[in-house]
Amino acid sequence: MKNQLTLLGGLTVQEFLRDYWQKKPLLIRQAIPAFEGLLDPQQLLALACTEDAQARLVTQSRGKFDLRHAPFEPGDFAGFGKAKWTVLVQGVNHHLPEAAALLKHFSFIPHARLDDLMVSYAPKGGGVGPHFDSYDVFLLQGAGHRRWQISTQADRSLVEGAPLRILKDFRVEQEWVLEAGDMLYLPPHCGHNGIAEDDCMTYSIGFRTPAYQELAEQFLVYLQDRIEVEGMYADPDLETQKHPSEISAAMLRQVEQAIKQVRWDREDIANFYGCYMSEPKPHIFFDAPERPVSLAKFSQALQKRGVQLDLKSQMLCHAGWIFINGEAFRPESRDYPLLRALADERNLPALADCTDELREQLYQWYRDGYIYPA
Ligand code: SIN
Ligand code: CO
Repeated sequence: MKNQLTLLGGLTVQEFLRDYWQKKPLLIRQAIPAFEGLLDPQQLLALACTEDAQARLVTQSRGKFDLRHAPFEPGDFAGFGKAKWTVLVQGVNHHLPEAAALLKHFSFIPHARLDDLMVSYAPKGGGVGPHFDSYDVFLLQGAGHRRWQISTQADRSLVEGAPLRILKDFRVEQEWVLEAGDMLYLPPHCGHNGIAEDDCMTYSIGFRTPAYQELAEQFLVYLQDRIEVEGMYADPDLETQKHPSEISAAMLRQVEQAIKQVRWDREDIANFYGCYMSEPKPHIFFDAPERPVSLAKFSQALQKRGVQLDLKSQMLCHAGWIFINGEAFRPESRDYPLLRALADERNLPALADCTDELREQLYQWYRDGYIYPA
C-alpha cells in the first residue's frame, strides 16, 4: 500500500504530485500537528539583524506599501504607530538545524528544486499584499493565525511604481484562516494575499524553477571554459571584392563552420546543471575551520561518528557525479553510494570503510567549510 501522509492531508505523494503539484492549490489542515514553529518573533528579528541575513521589512500605511532590505538594527522594528508591518527572513535553513530538519519532510520533491525556508513575522494586519510568485510554495503556519486569500485569475497586471509586486486587481476566489500546523500549497503564479490575524509567523518552503533564458545563458558561461575549437581563419584563395568594407558570404561561411564545431553532450548538460543548481547564492560564504584538525584526526572522527553537511551546503548527484556548492567530483564507483547517501540525508553515519581518495576529498570539503565531523 502506498504511504498516505499527514503532511499532505492523507494523500499519497503520488496523488499529490498527480493532482496538485504545479497544478492547483491545496489546503491541508494540521499538516504538522502540534507544530509550534522553530523560533519566536524575537529570535527571528535577531536573525534579521545578523550580518549576512537576507531580510526584508515591509510596512503598509493607508494602503501604500514600503520595502526595506537588510542590514537592520533592533531599533528598526519599533515605532510603527498605526502602520502595519512584517519582517521576512530568507534562508532560515542556513542558520537553524531545526529548519533543515523541517525541510526533510519535503524531500519527496528533489533537492535540486528546493530554494529555501523563509520565515515571516507580522503583528495583526501585517502582510506583503496580494501578489503571485514564480515559485511552488508550501505556506506552513507557525504561531498565530493568518488569513489567506487566493485567486487563480489570469490577470497578473501589477500596481505600477510600487516597491513590491502587488496585483492591481486581486479577485479573491477562496479564503481560509490558518492556525499552527495548517499548510497551504500554491503552484507558481497563483495569486495570494496573507493577512496576519494576530501575532503571526509563517514558514514558506519554496521551490525554484529556473527560467530557460537563465539556464541557457548560464550554460553558455559554463561552456566557454570547456569548448575546444580547432584551427584558425585562413583565406589562401582570397578573391578581390568591389567593396573592401563588405563582409563576404565566403568569410561568413568559414566562421559558421568554425562555430559549428562547438559541441556538447549529455554529460556536459548534467555537469553544468549539477554545478549550477548546487551553486551557493552570492551572499553565502562558508566558514572554513580556523584551526582544522589533521587528516589523521579527521579520519578517526569519520570512522567513529561520520560527517554532516554544513547547513549552507547544497549537495546533488547524478550518474556517478557528485556536485557540492558549485563543484563537480567523480568518486570511485564504490564510494558513490556513500556520497549519494550524504547528499540525500545531509549526514553520513560512522564510515568504517572507504577509499583513501574519498577520505581525502571529505577532508578537503571539511577544510572548505562544506562539511564537518558529526
Ligand atoms: C508571508 O509570509 O507573509 C508572505 C509569504 C508569501 O506570500 O509568499
Ligand atoms: Co508569495
